[in-house]
Amino acid sequence: MAFTISVNGKTHDVDVDGDTPLLWVLRDVLGMTGTKFGCGMSLCGACTVHIDGAATRSCVTTIDSIGQSQVTTIEAIGATPAGAKIQKAWLDREVVQCGYCQSGQIMSASALLVSNPNPSDADIDDQMSGNICRCGTYVRIREAIKLAASMSEKAG
Ligand code: FES
Ligand code: FES
Repeated sequence: MAFTISVNGKTHDVDVDGDTPLLWVLRDVLGMTGTKFGCGMSLCGACTVHIDGAATRSCVTTIDSIGQSQVTTIEAIGATPAGAKIQKAWLDREVVQCGYCQSGQIMSASALLVSNPNPSDADIDDQMSGNICRCGTYVRIREAIKLAASMSEKAG
């Protein structure tokens, strides 16, 4: 079945079954492998993308549910103001270890910064609790989100 979806500001025509998860359309059809597969059951957050700005698990989001919504992935999040600050803070705080979970972490953190420019520890924990990191980078993730938030305040 043919679908037209908007990803990172570009439209793509894809021919897949309607129940195909967005994750596999991104990775296997469009070749955008920055979004990762972890559990496939909305439990780990590795596959997080934005749909109309909201952090969304692409492993359980079927292609036929996307419609006209705008999909943003890790490949383009750095072009958004919040995403650029988050990525800068990630580098500054050297958050990444193996890196596997980090696309999803950055997508969730970027969505948080847009909805809540000055998040408390509780806000951060609440937003990020669905993003699992087997390397245990949680402390640095929290520090980096706070650093990015301080950049937002200076910019704002
Ligand atoms: S792969 Fe989607 S939440 Fe784990
Ligand atoms: S950095 Fe390795 S799983 Fe998070």
